[in-house]
Amino acid sequence: MPGSRKEQAKPRAKPAQQKIESILDRHQCDRGMLVAILQDTQAEYNYLPKEALVEVSQGLDIPLTQVYSVASFFKAFSLKPRGRHLVHVCLGTACHVRGAVRILDEIKRKLGINEGETTKDLRYTLETVNCVGACALGPIVIVDGQYSGEMKTDKVKPLMESYK
Ligand code: FES
Repeated sequence: MPGSRKEQAKPRAKPAQQKIESILDRHQCDRGMLVAILQDTQAEYNYLPKEALVEVSQGLDIPLTQVYSVASFFKAFSLKPRGRHLVHVCLGTACHVRGAVRILDEIKRKLGINEGETTKDLRYTLETVNCVGACALGPIVIVDGQYSGEMKTDKVKPLMESYK
C-alpha cells in the first residue's frame, strides 16, 4: 500500500533506504511515477544500484522484476556504475564517413575500455550514438553534453585530459 512504509518502525535506516525514502516521498509513493523515481534515483547514484531498486520495489509495493523491466527498457538508465564523465562518439553516417571509427578507436585505446564500459577509476563511461544533428561538424565527440566537432585522433588525448 503506497505510503504505508512511513508508519513502519525503522531502527536504523541505511543510507540507500534514506535516499530512496526521500525520493519516494517527493513522488508521494506514486507507482505511476516509477520512471521519474528511477530518474531521480539515477541522478543520486549516477546509475541504478541493485539495493536502490530493491528499496524502490518495496517502497512502491511492486515486484522487483517490474522495476528491473522499466530500468532496463530505457536506454537512459544504467544498471552498471557509470563514470563521472559520459563520452559519446557519434557513429551516424556523416560522422562515420569522416572518420568517426578512427576517433572511437583512439578513445578506446586512450581510456583502455570498449564502448558501453566504464574506466576502473569511474572517471569515464564510453558510449556511441547515431547522429546528434550536427553532421556538418563531424566527426563529433560529446563529453558531458559538450560537443567537440571536426575531431581528429590527435585531439583525443587533450580532450580526455581536460575532464578530471
Ligand atoms: S552523423 Fe554525427 S552528427 Fe549526424
